[in-house]
Amino acid sequence: MCGIFGYCNFLCEKSRREVCDTLLNGLSRLEYRGYDSAGFAVDGDIEDTLIIKQVGKVAALRKLTDDQPLDFSKPFISHCGMAHTRWATHGQPSQINSHPQRSDDKNEFVVVHNGIITNYKEIKLLLEKKGYVFESDTDTECVAKLTKYVFESHNKELNFTELVKTVVKELEGSYAFIFKSTHFPNEIVATRRGSPLLIGVKTQKKLKVDFVDVESSDNSFATVEGQDMSRPALNRSQSRAFLSEDGLPQPIEYFLASDASAIVEHTKRVLYLEDDDIAHIADGELHIHRVRRSKEDNTAPTRSIQTLEIELAEIMKGSFDHFMQKEIYEQPESVVNTMRGRVNFENHEVTLGGLRGFTHIIRRARRIIFVACGTSYHSCLATRSIFEELNQIGTQAELASDFLDREPPIFRDDVCVFVSQSGETADTILAMRYCLERGALCVGVTNTVGSSISRETHCGVHINAGPEIGVASTKAYTSQYIALVMMAIQLAQDSKSSQKRREEIIDGLYRLPSDIKEVLAIDAKLQQLAVEQLAQEKSLLILGRGYQNATCLEGALKIKEISYIHSEGIFAGELKHGPLALIDETMAVILVMTQDKYYPKVQSALQQVSARSGNPIVICNTGDENLKNHHRTIEVPKTSDCLQGLVNIIPLQLLSYHLAILKGVDVDFPRNLAKSVTVE
Ligand code: UD1
Ligand code: BG6
Repeated sequence: MCGIFGYCNFLCEKSRREVCDTLLNGLSRLEYRGYDSAGFAVDGDIEDTLIIKQVGKVAALRKLTDDQPLDFSKPFISHCGMAHTRWATHGQPSQINSHPQRSDDKNEFVVVHNGIITNYKEIKLLLEKKGYVFESDTDTECVAKLTKYVFESHNKELNFTELVKTVVKELEGSYAFIFKSTHFPNEIVATRRGSPLLIGVKTQKKLKVDFVDVESSDNSFATVEGQDMSRPALNRSQSRAFLSEDGLPQPIEYFLASDASAIVEHTKRVLYLEDDDIAHIADGELHIHRVRRSKEDNTAPTRSIQTLEIELAEIMKGSFDHFMQKEIYEQPESVVNTMRGRVNFENHEVTLGGLRGFTHIIRRARRIIFVACGTSYHSCLATRSIFEELNQIGTQAELASDFLDREPPIFRDDVCVFVSQSGETADTILAMRYCLERGALCVGVTNTVGSSISRETHCGVHINAGPEIGVASTKAYTSQYIALVMMAIQLAQDSKSSQKRREEIIDGLYRLPSDIKEVLAIDAKLQQLAVEQLAQEKSLLILGRGYQNATCLEGALKIKEISYIHSEGIFAGELKHGPLALIDETMAVILVMTQDKYYPKVQSALQQVSARSGNPIVICNTGDENLKNHHRTIEVPKTSDCLQGLVNIIPLQLLSYHLAILKGVDVDFPRNLAKSVTVE
């Protein structure tokens, strides 16, 4: 999905080469989000703005930049630049549709944008009537042109903040923007609604305070039609954070980005913008205003400057060929990180700090409703039954998109749990807001501190899996799964009748890292299986039952996402109601048949498949004598039934990885998919 990066240096000389490299490197850090084209804007030589854009990877943009007849040694004492990776939503991936988008051929106003402007057609029509000619198919171009129009219709008297404020008030939809203009050299304005945006601050001296004031301004704003021409009297208090001891301006750099991975190599001091914040960077100062200041605006009067905890090394590949491979191999550690400080293996107790003060409400819930997309949805399916078993509360799992389409009844005594690795998935966020409006207790389970879901839910659990970069989710799945199991256990903690069961599960959690390592150790065998038996297949069915239904769906999703082989997860209980028709000697089948109470039923599924000349590969527990000598098997250690899915998914993750390599797929960036889907 689209990524935004901006860079401003003040009293801190940088050559044009350094500025371009900082912007391009920022884009490289956002590559994992998935994109099809990229671009950036920097100052030219004659108070103009240069825009360089290219279809394809950041490397192609870098090459195009190097080919420009520019003086790369030109120094800039102060400068503001911005950059973007685009994932096409309006119009094909093309140079002209890439961002920055511009107001006119002099690049007076340039804009980068994440999100979607839903009323862009109306704005475009209005501007076309005024004589504006559009060059791209994007919704964003209307924002650049609207900015110029508003500026001119106010006799060029608005300052940059007022101007952007007036423009965004006309917009519907979701966005994070950065604006740059030849009318406001060395200034940048950023704003957001619905799409994340954060600002990193780098200074040599320590900041005076760790927050930035939200500044107030009077309410007499200009309007698009220009009836109110008065300039609001801004109450510009110098943000206390940036005051130097001696009152002299100090050198400072700002890094703006749609996520922290592009900032962390420069600085760990960041502030997250809230919806409707307008951040204005000029003369080394950062000022934050609100689009609308009203009595109902109950956002905090300051934005705190936080310290990021992720290390750049954590988002680098290390010795692995791909992020996905690294992330699969990290699971013995990432599952420990999810449980760290939360599971007491001696006393068999779970304490999720994020649910403190809310467990009694959740226990009284009429229903527990999980809402998520993709892999996150599968983690909900995998844990639904242990919630029901331990807590005796009806628990359902919903796909966020379907949930939104149906608009189901939600009540104040429902507890809705939103599971999202990124915490920024548009469908899940919209479903969360739907439930918030209806008064349900909303709980988040996310990997991203500071994400929309983390901030807007009443309470929740950070899964602490560390950044996940491969588009195909792996370690986030196992960590979400564990977070949900921990939640189920914590809710049941007072129940004597389930104590033994809880202890058995907690013992299983203790053994989990070594169980996962045991499966990783058979990677070479799985690679061989992929090469010799599966790579030529056109279609692959994955069958299982009970707890393993989720494993089948998740395994099939992994395979189709990155190897482009058609793959379907099938509930073995449904086999005779349709899918059995597909089975013959040519159909590739993987059967998940580890030992739990459903084993006899899965055995019967195996017989049904074998009777139709199917020859499945069976994922079974180590040493299963019923299977060993009769079938091709993948052996995995046995654990508690409700945790077995955590172990069983590992060989399927590895198989999908090897199949993708054999097919020559760009494993970390499969075609047509994005890591973080921030549009509906
Ligand atoms: C917290 C700290 C952790 C520290 C630990 C020490 C954070 C982010 N976590 O972890 O660094 O080591 O205390 O006790 O500072 N929340 C939501 N929605 C979500 C996710 C979380 O509202 O989707 C809320 C939680 O309710 C909680 C807060 O965010 O108030 C932090 O959650 P979490 O990180 O899971 O809490 P701890 O594990 O206690
Ligand atoms: C996208 C990703 O479709 O979003 C999937 O490609 C992911 O891997 C899904 O499972 C949901 O994302 P999130 O961030 O809400 O867990």
